[in-house]
Amino acid sequence: MIEAGLTPSLVVPDQVPIPSSTPIKLGLLASGSGSNVEVIAKAIQAGQLNAQIQVVIYNNPTAKVAERAERLGLAKVLLNHREFASREALDQAIVKTLATHQADWVIMAGWMRIVTQELIDAFPRRILNIHPSLLPSFPGANAVEQALQSGVKITGCTVHYVELAVDSGPIIIQAAVPVLPDDTPATLHQRIQVQEHRIFPLAIALAAQRLS
Ligand code: GAR
Repeated sequence: MIEAGLTPSLVVPDQVPIPSSTPIKLGLLASGSGSNVEVIAKAIQAGQLNAQIQVVIYNNPTAKVAERAERLGLAKVLLNHREFASREALDQAIVKTLATHQADWVIMAGWMRIVTQELIDAFPRRILNIHPSLLPSFPGANAVEQALQSGVKITGCTVHYVELAVDSGPIIIQAAVPVLPDDTPATLHQRIQVQEHRIFPLAIALAAQRLS
Protein backbone atom coordinates (compact mmCIF):
# COMPACT_ATOMS: atom_id res chain seq x y z
CA MET A 1 0.00 0.00 0.00
CA ILE A 2 1.33 3.41 -0.93
CA GLU A 3 0.08 6.42 0.96
CA ALA A 4 0.40 9.77 -0.73
CA GLY A 5 2.30 12.33 1.29
CA LEU A 6 0.81 15.67 2.24
CA THR A 7 1.61 17.39 -1.03
CA PRO A 8 0.51 21.03 -1.28
CA SER A 9 -2.55 20.00 -3.32
CA LEU A 10 -3.68 17.78 -0.45
CA VAL A 11 -3.35 20.34 2.30
CA VAL A 12 -6.85 21.46 3.09
CA PRO A 13 -7.54 24.75 4.86
CA ASP A 14 -9.12 24.38 8.29
CA GLN A 15 -12.31 26.17 7.40
CA VAL A 16 -14.52 23.26 8.47
CA PRO A 17 -12.82 21.66 11.47
CA ILE A 18 -14.14 18.33 12.67
CA PRO A 19 -13.07 17.37 16.18
CA SER A 20 -11.59 13.87 15.91
CA SER A 21 -14.00 12.68 18.60
CA THR A 22 -17.00 13.51 16.41
CA PRO A 23 -18.05 10.78 13.99
CA ILE A 24 -18.11 12.03 10.42
CA LYS A 25 -21.46 11.65 8.69
CA LEU A 26 -21.27 9.76 5.44
CA GLY A 27 -23.62 9.67 2.48
CA LEU A 28 -22.77 6.64 0.34
CA LEU A 29 -23.47 6.45 -3.41
CA ALA A 30 -23.54 2.98 -4.96
CA SER A 31 -24.68 1.42 -8.23
CA GLY A 32 -23.91 -2.26 -7.89
CA SER A 33 -23.18 -5.02 -5.44
CA GLY A 34 -22.26 -2.76 -2.54
CA SER A 35 -19.38 -4.78 -1.12
CA ASN A 36 -17.56 -1.51 -0.41
CA VAL A 37 -20.62 -0.18 1.40
CA GLU A 38 -20.54 -3.28 3.57
CA VAL A 39 -16.84 -3.02 4.46
CA ILE A 40 -17.28 0.64 5.40
CA ALA A 41 -20.23 -0.29 7.63
CA LYS A 42 -18.18 -3.12 9.20
CA ALA A 43 -15.16 -0.85 9.77
CA ILE A 44 -17.45 1.55 11.63
CA GLN A 45 -18.93 -1.29 13.69
CA ALA A 46 -15.42 -2.53 14.51
CA GLY A 47 -14.38 0.93 15.72
CA GLN A 48 -11.80 1.30 12.95
CA LEU A 49 -13.53 4.29 11.40
CA ASN A 50 -15.13 7.04 13.45
CA ALA A 51 -18.14 7.64 11.21
CA GLN A 52 -21.86 7.13 10.76
CA ILE A 53 -23.60 6.10 7.56
CA GLN A 54 -26.48 8.53 7.21
CA VAL A 55 -27.86 7.15 3.97
CA VAL A 56 -27.06 4.91 1.01
CA ILE A 57 -28.22 6.36 -2.31
CA TYR A 58 -28.44 3.94 -5.23
CA ASN A 59 -29.48 4.45 -8.82
CA ASN A 60 -30.39 0.99 -10.09
CA PRO A 61 -33.66 -0.47 -8.77
CA THR A 62 -32.24 -4.01 -8.92
CA ALA A 63 -28.80 -3.22 -7.46
CA LYS A 64 -27.73 -5.75 -4.83
CA VAL A 65 -26.59 -2.88 -2.62
CA ALA A 66 -30.23 -2.29 -1.68
CA GLU A 67 -30.48 -5.75 -0.04
CA ARG A 68 -27.15 -5.23 1.71
CA ALA A 69 -28.24 -1.86 3.09
CA GLU A 70 -31.46 -3.46 4.31
CA ARG A 71 -29.55 -6.27 6.01
CA LEU A 72 -27.13 -3.81 7.60
CA GLY A 73 -29.97 -1.62 8.84
CA LEU A 74 -28.87 1.39 6.77
CA ALA A 75 -31.24 4.06 5.46
CA LYS A 76 -31.45 3.77 1.68
CA VAL A 77 -32.91 5.94 -1.07
CA LEU A 78 -33.36 5.00 -4.73
CA LEU A 79 -32.69 7.84 -7.16
CA ASN A 80 -33.11 6.19 -10.53
CA HIS A 81 -31.04 8.21 -13.00
CA ARG A 82 -33.44 7.26 -15.82
CA GLU A 83 -36.10 9.41 -14.18
CA PHE A 84 -34.02 12.60 -14.31
CA ALA A 85 -33.76 14.91 -17.31
CA SER A 86 -30.03 15.55 -16.92
CA ARG A 87 -26.96 14.63 -14.87
CA GLU A 88 -27.35 17.98 -13.09
CA ALA A 89 -30.95 17.19 -12.13
CA LEU A 90 -29.87 13.84 -10.67
CA ASP A 91 -27.08 15.51 -8.72
CA GLN A 92 -29.47 18.17 -7.40
CA ALA A 93 -31.68 15.37 -6.05
CA ILE A 94 -28.61 13.68 -4.54
CA VAL A 95 -27.57 16.92 -2.80
CA LYS A 96 -31.09 17.35 -1.44
CA THR A 97 -31.23 13.77 -0.17
CA LEU A 98 -27.81 14.07 1.46
CA ALA A 99 -28.91 17.29 3.16
CA THR A 100 -32.13 15.66 4.41
CA HIS A 101 -30.06 12.88 5.95
CA GLN A 102 -27.46 15.32 7.30
CA ALA A 103 -24.51 13.80 5.49
CA ASP A 104 -21.25 15.81 5.52
CA TRP A 105 -19.17 13.57 3.25
CA VAL A 106 -19.97 11.83 -0.02
CA ILE A 107 -18.44 8.41 -0.56
CA MET A 108 -18.73 7.03 -4.08
CA ALA A 109 -18.62 3.28 -3.43
CA GLY A 110 -19.04 1.86 -6.91
CA TRP A 111 -21.04 4.86 -8.22
CA MET A 112 -21.20 4.47 -11.99
CA ARG A 113 -22.57 7.93 -12.88
CA ILE A 114 -20.50 10.91 -13.99
CA VAL A 115 -20.85 13.65 -11.39
CA THR A 116 -21.42 17.33 -12.13
CA GLN A 117 -20.46 20.64 -10.58
CA GLU A 118 -23.79 20.55 -8.68
CA LEU A 119 -22.48 17.81 -6.39
CA ILE A 120 -18.88 19.02 -6.28
CA ASP A 121 -19.87 22.55 -5.23
CA ALA A 122 -22.12 21.23 -2.47
CA PHE A 123 -19.33 19.14 -0.86
CA PRO A 124 -16.01 20.85 -1.55
CA ARG A 125 -13.11 18.44 -0.81
CA ARG A 126 -15.56 16.06 0.80
CA ILE A 127 -16.26 13.64 -2.02
CA LEU A 128 -14.20 10.46 -2.30
CA ASN A 129 -14.26 7.84 -5.03
CA ILE A 130 -12.82 4.36 -5.35
CA HIS A 131 -11.65 3.20 -8.76
CA PRO A 132 -10.37 -0.27 -9.76
CA SER A 133 -7.05 0.79 -11.30
CA LEU A 134 -3.89 2.64 -10.40
CA LEU A 135 -5.00 6.08 -11.61
CA PRO A 136 -4.14 7.94 -13.76
CA SER A 137 -4.00 4.66 -15.72
CA PHE A 138 -7.30 3.29 -16.99
CA PRO A 139 -9.88 5.89 -15.95
CA GLY A 140 -13.53 5.52 -16.93
CA ALA A 141 -15.63 2.42 -17.32
CA ASN A 142 -14.18 -1.12 -17.60
CA ALA A 143 -10.91 -0.27 -15.87
CA VAL A 144 -10.19 -3.94 -15.13
CA GLU A 145 -10.74 -5.00 -18.75
CA GLN A 146 -8.62 -2.06 -19.92
CA ALA A 147 -5.75 -3.17 -17.68
CA LEU A 148 -5.95 -6.77 -18.95
CA GLN A 149 -6.06 -5.68 -22.59
CA SER A 150 -3.10 -3.33 -22.17
CA GLY A 151 -0.81 -6.11 -20.95
CA VAL A 152 0.30 -4.36 -17.74
CA LYS A 153 1.67 -6.70 -15.09
CA ILE A 154 0.55 -4.61 -12.13
CA THR A 155 -2.74 -2.83 -11.62
CA GLY A 156 -4.68 -2.04 -8.45
CA CYS A 157 -7.10 0.43 -6.96
CA THR A 158 -7.19 4.08 -5.99
CA VAL A 159 -9.14 6.20 -3.53
CA HIS A 160 -9.12 9.85 -4.52
CA TYR A 161 -10.87 13.16 -3.98
CA VAL A 162 -13.40 13.80 -6.73
CA GLU A 163 -12.98 16.59 -9.25
CA LEU A 164 -15.02 17.31 -12.34
CA ALA A 165 -12.93 15.34 -14.85
CA VAL A 166 -13.78 11.64 -14.60
CA ASP A 167 -11.52 9.71 -12.18
CA SER A 168 -9.25 12.69 -11.56
CA GLY A 169 -8.46 14.47 -8.30
CA PRO A 170 -5.78 14.13 -5.63
CA ILE A 171 -4.98 10.55 -4.69
CA ILE A 172 -5.33 9.52 -1.05
CA ILE A 173 -4.28 5.84 -1.10
CA GLN A 174 -3.48 3.26 -3.75
CA ALA A 175 -2.87 -0.48 -3.52
CA ALA A 176 -1.11 -2.55 -6.17
CA VAL A 177 -2.33 -5.93 -7.45
CA PRO A 178 -0.35 -8.21 -9.79
CA VAL A 179 -1.96 -9.28 -13.06
CA LEU A 180 -1.58 -13.06 -13.36
CA PRO A 181 -1.12 -14.83 -16.72
CA ASP A 182 -4.47 -16.65 -16.56
CA ASP A 183 -6.48 -13.73 -15.16
CA THR A 184 -9.96 -13.03 -16.47
CA PRO A 185 -11.72 -9.71 -15.72
CA ALA A 186 -13.62 -11.52 -12.95
CA THR A 187 -10.59 -13.06 -11.21
CA LEU A 188 -8.57 -9.87 -11.44
CA HIS A 189 -11.46 -7.73 -10.20
CA GLN A 190 -11.94 -10.10 -7.28
CA ARG A 191 -8.31 -9.63 -6.16
CA ILE A 192 -8.55 -5.87 -6.68
CA GLN A 193 -11.63 -5.80 -4.48
CA VAL A 194 -9.75 -7.46 -1.62
CA GLN A 195 -7.43 -4.44 -1.71
CA GLU A 196 -10.31 -1.97 -2.14
CA HIS A 197 -11.83 -3.30 1.05
CA ARG A 198 -8.55 -2.68 2.91
CA ILE A 199 -7.87 0.83 1.70
CA PHE A 200 -11.31 2.45 1.47
CA PRO A 201 -12.11 2.74 5.20
CA LEU A 202 -8.52 3.83 5.81
CA ALA A 203 -8.69 6.52 3.13
CA ILE A 204 -11.94 7.90 4.57
CA ALA A 205 -10.35 8.12 8.02
CA LEU A 206 -7.27 9.80 6.57
CA ALA A 207 -9.30 12.37 4.63
CA ALA A 208 -11.39 13.18 7.70
CA GLN A 209 -8.24 13.56 9.80
CA ARG A 210 -6.82 16.07 7.34
CA LEU A 211 -9.85 18.27 7.86
CA SER A 212 -9.77 18.07 11.64
C1 GAR B 1 -15.54 -1.42 -7.33
O1 GAR B 1 -14.58 -2.31 -7.81
C2 GAR B 1 -15.17 0.01 -7.67
O2 GAR B 1 -13.81 0.23 -7.72
C3 GAR B 1 -15.81 0.15 -9.03
O3 GAR B 1 -17.03 -0.51 -8.93
C4 GAR B 1 -16.88 -1.61 -8.04
C5 GAR B 1 -18.04 -1.62 -7.08
O4 GAR B 1 -18.01 -2.76 -6.28
N1 GAR B 1 -15.98 1.53 -9.37
C6 GAR B 1 -15.80 2.01 -10.59
O5 GAR B 1 -15.51 1.32 -11.54
C7 GAR B 1 -15.98 3.51 -10.70
N2 GAR B 1 -15.41 4.01 -11.93
P1 GAR B 1 -19.03 -2.94 -5.07
O6 GAR B 1 -20.42 -2.59 -5.59
O7 GAR B 1 -18.92 -4.39 -4.72
O8 GAR B 1 -18.60 -2.03 -3.96
